[in-house]
Amino acid sequence: MKSNTPHPVIPVNQLQPGMYVIAITSQTGAMEIAQMGLVTNRKQIESLIRRGVSTVRVDLSRSKLAGIEQVLSPEPASPSSSAQRLSSNAGGEGRELKIRRLYQEARELQGKFIRQLKAGEPIDITPLAAVAEEMVDTMFSHGDAMLCLARIRAKDAYLMEHSMNVAILLANFGRYLGLERSVIKELTLGGLLHDVGKIMTPDEVLNKPGKLTDEEFGIMRLHVVHSHDILLATAGITPTMLEVAANHHERLDGSGYPRHLKGEQLSLYTRISGIVDVYDAVTADRVYKQGMQPTQAFRILLKGADHHFDRELVTRFIKCMGVYPVGTLVQLSNQRLAIVMQRNAQEPLKPVVKVIYHAGQRHYLEVQWLDLAKSGVQETIECTVDPKEFGIKLANFV
Ligand SMILES: [Fe+2]
Repeated sequence: MKSNTPHPVIPVNQLQPGMYVIAITSQTGAMEIAQMGLVTNRKQIESLIRRGVSTVRVDLSRSKLAGIEQVLSPEPASPSSSAQRLSSNAGGEGRELKIRRLYQEARELQGKFIRQLKAGEPIDITPLAAVAEEMVDTMFSHGDAMLCLARIRAKDAYLMEHSMNVAILLANFGRYLGLERSVIKELTLGGLLHDVGKIMTPDEVLNKPGKLTDEEFGIMRLHVVHSHDILLATAGITPTMLEVAANHHERLDGSGYPRHLKGEQLSLYTRISGIVDVYDAVTADRVYKQGMQPTQAFRILLKGADHHFDRELVTRFIKCMGVYPVGTLVQLSNQRLAIVMQRNAQEPLKPVVKVIYHAGQRHYLEVQWLDLAKSGVQETIECTVDPKEFGIKLANFV
C-alpha cells in the first residue's frame, strides 16, 4: 500500500462506487454516519446525500476504481512515473496500471481492426501483432496479473472480451507447455482474431438468448469459415494463426466443424485452441446466462476428454490454471471471502489472495492482501464461491 497516496476531499456527488471513504468532512445534518468504507453502489451515495453529507475524504490507495488516480489526483500519473513505480515493483500498483493499459490498448486495436474490416478498408495487423507480442512478454513476466484481467468482461462486448481472454489463456497455456515464444506470440494473435468471422454473423443469431434452430446453428458455424477467409486475405497472418481461427471448433471424434477433422488431423495448436475456447465460453457471463465457475468448466472439459478434447492436454490445462485459478472467489476458514491473485506453484492450495468481504456478516471489508503460504497465517481456503451469490462484481477488485 502506498503511504504517500493523497486523501482528497471531494463533493459527495462526485463519489463513485469503488471509492473508499475515510471521513465525512462536511454535512448539514447532525445525524451520525455509522460506517465508513468502500462504496459499493449508488444507493449508499444517495443515502449520504439524503443525510446531508456534502463532502467526504476518500483514500485512493484503498479505492478500487480503475483509473481513479487520474480522476482525482492533483498531479495525474504520467507514463514515466508509472514506469518508475513499475520498475520499483513496490506493491505492484504501477505494474497493474501498465498491464491494464496494455489490455485496453489491445481491445482498442481489436475494435479498430473490426471497424476497418466492416468498412472494407485496408487492414494492417502490425499494431495488433505488436500488442500480442507485448501481451506474451507480460505473460512471462507477470502472468498472474494478466490472468486477472481475463476475468474482466463486459456482457455487451462479448466478441471482444472472449477474444482477449482466449488470447491471454493461449499465452498462458503455451508458456506452461514450454512452447517457443515465437509460437506463443502467433497463438496469442491467433486468439485475438480467432472469432473475427462473427462480424458476418447476423446479430439475431449471434446474440439469440435461447437455443438456436438447426438453420441458425448452420449460420453460426459459418463464422469459422469467415474467420479463415478474412485472415487468409490479410497480410502478416501465419499458418498457426489461421489454424487457431479455422480449427478451434474441430473435435477429436470428428463431431466438430467446419471440416469434421478427426484424431491425428487435429494438430497440437488446434487441440489447445479448442480447450481454451470452450473454457472461456462456458465461464463467460452473457446477457442471458451466468457463467460457470472455473471448477465447473474443468469438469466440462474432463467430461469431453477423449472424444472431444485431448485428455492429456485437458489435464495439463487444469494444472496450468491451478486448483484455484487467478480471479477465483474463495471462502476462507474464517468466513472471509477473497479473490485469488497469485498462484503458488509449490503449494497450489495456498495462493496469494485479496480479502474483500465477510460472508457471515455480508459486508465489504477493507481490502487486505494475504499470502496463505506465509508462516503464521492460519487461514485456509474452504471452497470456491460464486460471486453472484453475494452480489460481488469481481471486475471492481481485480
Ligand atoms: Fe468460435
